Amino acid sequence: MSQQQQKDDEKKKDAAIPTPLKYLFGGLAAMSSTCVMHPMDLVKTRMQVASDNGTKHPTPIDVIKTAIRNDGVIGLYRGLGASVLRQSIYSTTRIGVYTSLSEFFRDRYQSAPSLNMIICIAAFAGATGAYVGNPADVGLIRIMTDARLPSADRRNYTSVFNALSRIVKEEGVLTLWRGAVPTVGRAIVVSVAQLASYTQFRRWAKTKLGLGDGFGLHLVASIGSGILTASASLPVDIAKTRIQNMKVINGKPEYTGLFDVIVKISRNEGALALWRGYVPYVLRVVPQTILIFIILEQLNTAYFKYVLGETYKSRI
Ligand SMILES: *[C@@H]1O[C@H](CO)[C@@H](O)[C@H](O)[C@H]1NC(C)=O
Ligand SMILES: *[C@@H]1O[C@H](CO)[C@@H](O)[C@H](O)[C@H]1NC(C)=O
Repeated sequence: MSQQQQKDDEKKKDAAIPTPLKYLFGGLAAMSSTCVMHPMDLVKTRMQVASDNGTKHPTPIDVIKTAIRNDGVIGLYRGLGASVLRQSIYSTTRIGVYTSLSEFFRDRYQSAPSLNMIICIAAFAGATGAYVGNPADVGLIRIMTDARLPSADRRNYTSVFNALSRIVKEEGVLTLWRGAVPTVGRAIVVSVAQLASYTQFRRWAKTKLGLGDGFGLHLVASIGSGILTASASLPVDIAKTRIQNMKVINGKPEYTGLFDVIVKISRNEGALALWRGYVPYVLRVVPQTILIFIILEQLNTAYFKYVLGETYKSRI
């Protein structure tokens, strides 16, 4: 029996996607969905910083009109390079770490990791991804918000690499990790709400709705995951954008940290301001989440089918 079991175990281990491909597939899924969703991201970011200055808040339509008027339709894709670069670091890391660690614990304990376990793994994966991806994130926010500054204040970065090298030269290398605490905080919230909840919704839809491992299952689980992700992460996202975009007034930074931003926004602009831009955020996060998981699952399915010659079955 033990021999048979050993054989079974070996077989189970064989029928897995190699670790580097887990990272690659995660990165590809996130980068493709980013290309599709970038204009929504731009609108969201511009709306979030628009209120810094206390004037009237633009609607998503105003933001889109202004971007097209100033730069043409291409204006909606400003910062796409930085955005894709950021995903290639941040999401490759966080999805790769999440999947590998989950499968590692599954193999080690010979059973699917518990909900608490996947929450911890997702938090760790998100934090790691965010920390290594922070420089690209700073570059992205700078580029996307540059066009709305008065022309004398613009930084006129020509590309994401230009932005990163100029930030290092003009403001010091540590500036690339500005906002790392809120970025990591946000990534923990996003990754738990997105990755762990996807796994959990997936398990739930499998057992409670009886869905098999296919498109329907992936769609249901990713919609659930997307809505949860958007609602939980918007306040943290707003705080992060404000910090990365803040000015230094009389040698003092505008905000001291995540809680400071949240407190100041609630006090000065009302608590609802923490969910400003909820509609474009949901319109961005839900389809983006759906795209990420559908593409990821399709890549997994294709690997199982064409390389392993087996039917795809998630191991977590
Ligand atoms: C809003 O910001 C712009 C650019 O930063 C500035 O020119 C304008 O005077 C500001 N308006 C107010 C009311 O502060
Ligand atoms: C960016 O270009 C504008 C003119 O379009 C100029 O006024 C501004 O000084 C430039 N900014 C920098 C940092 O060179």
